[in-house]
Amino acid sequence: MKRIFAVTLALVIALMSYAQCFAMSEGDWDKYWKTDEAHSGITLFPGSDESERRISWYSEKESEPFVELTADGMKSPRVFHGECVETYSGDFANKVTVTGLEEGKDYTYVCVSGDYRSDEYTFNTSRGSDFTALYVTDIHISEGEDEEGDSIRYDSYLYGEVIEAAEKISDIDIVLSAGDQASRGLESEYKGLSASPAGRGITFAPAIGNHDRKGVDFRTFKNLPNEKKGGINTTYIGFDYWFVKGDTLFMVLESNNGSGIDHHAFMEAAVRANKDVKWRVCMMHHDLYSGRIPSRESENELLRLIWGPMFSEFAIDLVLLGHSHYYSVSDVLFNNKITAEIKGNDDITDAPGTVSIVSGSINHPRSGNEEEVPANDTLGYYYDNQGGQVLYNIIDFSSDSITVRSYSYDTGEQFNSLTLRKTSPSGGHPAKRIPLYQPLINLAGTVYQFFNNISVRQRLKDSGFEISLFDILFKGNR
Ligand SMILES: [Fe+2]
Repeated sequence: MKRIFAVTLALVIALMSYAQCFAMSEGDWDKYWKTDEAHSGITLFPGSDESERRISWYSEKESEPFVELTADGMKSPRVFHGECVETYSGDFANKVTVTGLEEGKDYTYVCVSGDYRSDEYTFNTSRGSDFTALYVTDIHISEGEDEEGDSIRYDSYLYGEVIEAAEKISDIDIVLSAGDQASRGLESEYKGLSASPAGRGITFAPAIGNHDRKGVDFRTFKNLPNEKKGGINTTYIGFDYWFVKGDTLFMVLESNNGSGIDHHAFMEAAVRANKDVKWRVCMMHHDLYSGRIPSRESENELLRLIWGPMFSEFAIDLVLLGHSHYYSVSDVLFNNKITAEIKGNDDITDAPGTVSIVSGSINHPRSGNEEEVPANDTLGYYYDNQGGQVLYNIIDFSSDSITVRSYSYDTGEQFNSLTLRKTSPSGGHPAKRIPLYQPLINLAGTVYQFFNNISVRQRLKDSGFEISLFDILFKGNR
């Protein structure tokens, strides 16, 4: 009897200390923030498929980095070597890919560079088609004017709290982050983004926001698979990339780049390489449907000209967006025309087109006083009482359906859901052709991007970043 009691007590203590690893009070967070481990920037990015993960972290010195990986049944750790690249500030970013992962297994990893040896972090691989994502956008870790880094410390804490709130509802396998991870695109902000131990056991897939492009450090922060390099234009800091998880192809688009020709080539190649994957999900930063901000409608109209037909041509089921910090869901659209209406809490089988969602910001939630009228009539549902609330979404993926549940972090309540079901791989996507003039619009976007890069280089220079025009225009493609 005594033995049973002792074992039970040991188990309870072990479980409590495990929970304490992640659940931190703000006071505990402040203590953790003073440690080097909080600022190592360890991030677990997706690999090309479930058998890989790509890991990145920062160090002050150059070295030959490696990752030690262990799992049940392994006699000794497997060691994966990687590369070390210099960052704009003179630090180093270490990048290692771990491969050969099996489905439905827990893996523990340790990052080693020079005399740095990280804590242990554990992630798990999914099995089959089922997995769960946390979809957030505009996390906005912001370096303020204060020297203590207080704003980054708090922003990082809140983001970690959102992860933990989502984890209490479902086991999260991956974070889908639709851009503006950082407000000024600075290394310090990406270190803050990666600080929470809760996040280091979850794969992180980021899109690039307009704020990430206010600096240049996303370029060395990321470690992403299947990037579209070598196109006509890029934005210097990143590319479109794809990965497959379960029965879903994720295409993450660099929407700061207006180069329609490059995006079209990317999506065509990604779809061709993954013909048998049932679901297609895109994620990018720029909102296409205004989020009830009429002043943005003219920009959105131009963006819809490029992106709307592209999503229709490649039969994209769901698009995850950000930028307006305002939660909304578009109607089901084909070539920017409504093919089915969205009203809130929808459940659609074989949707005849694409549905887009925009979520709210984590650290810069919109604070009310919205215009009364949606800025355009393709906006199907919008969250009326959003003012000031932090929003997040849990998405359950399976072979037959995708269900998005949307929550307020502040009230803990679920305020909307959307379920898409398919009875065949093509679902209800119309077989109609896209407009014949579409390649001309894509070309116009490519020409625009060349001039946009010149003006962005000037803006970076004005902000103190010394990047040559040659590098912005050409080196960004490598
Ligand atoms: Fe933003």
